[in-house]
Amino acid sequence: MIILKLPEEVQHWALNTKRRGQRIAFVPTMGALHEGHLSLLREGRRLGDKLAMSIFVNPLQFGPAEDFEKYPRDEPGDLKKAQTCGVDVIFAPSAKDIYPGGFQTAVAVQQLSMPLCGAGRPGHFQGVATVVLKLFNIVQPDIALFGEKDYQQLKVIQKMVRDLNLPIQIKPMPIVREKDGLAMSSRNTHLSPEERKAALAIPTALQKAKGLATAGETDPKTILNAVVATLTESKKIAIDYVSLCDPETLEELKVLQRPALLAIACFVGKTRLIDNCLLK
Ligand code: PAF
Repeated sequence: MIILKLPEEVQHWALNTKRRGQRIAFVPTMGALHEGHLSLLREGRRLGDKLAMSIFVNPLQFGPAEDFEKYPRDEPGDLKKAQTCGVDVIFAPSAKDIYPGGFQTAVAVQQLSMPLCGAGRPGHFQGVATVVLKLFNIVQPDIALFGEKDYQQLKVIQKMVRDLNLPIQIKPMPIVREKDGLAMSSRNTHLSPEERKAALAIPTALQKAKGLATAGETDPKTILNAVVATLTESKKIAIDYVSLCDPETLEELKVLQRPALLAIACFVGKTRLIDNCLLK
């Protein structure tokens, strides 16, 4: 496994790899790797001749009052985990190599970036799309893997790839959960033991909604009320949004048509967690 810091070194490696006719699989990350990331890496290992991963906590996708400084970082741990998954190249750039002085270009996937997380985190998806396009141009992947936990991010990236004719296959990967149902997230490490317990209301609320939908409930309000009631049973949870929306456009549904995406974002203490499921 080699670790490269400079964009031009990675681009050089990528172009040589492709010249040899080898397929590059790519997993972009912000580090603090957990089983969710590792599932992407294992699948990337299977799909590509070469497997590249990036570790870069992207300042552009954090708002001024958000947790950029506090975002968990564990480079030595990440390198060990990456090695066990057979990563060939790690790209771990500095912020000034990604955004040199005078950087002024942005990628905006307009409508898809507006609802859900976009509403409370203006500029977030522009920051994500901009860095992911840069990473794609540097790493030159044939296939890139993204987790469905960040569902809106996945949709934004898929749209960017289609809209800009990028010759890259995007492979969505299922949410990986802890044994008790909490979706894996780097931010889970911020939870106190009490908050960790309270956070279980999120997967419980998703299960409740699935149960109602399976029993034939078609009124989004009934489902959303049940979700909100489950989440707010705990005083430690403050809801950012709960939405039942179209899984492609992310527009709110007035009537439950299937499949529908149920998306939740809430603060457990100071930690913002997101989760979702499809109601089929
Ligand atoms: O999902 C993430 O970890 C980040 O948003 C990504 C895709 C690596 C871009 O910074």
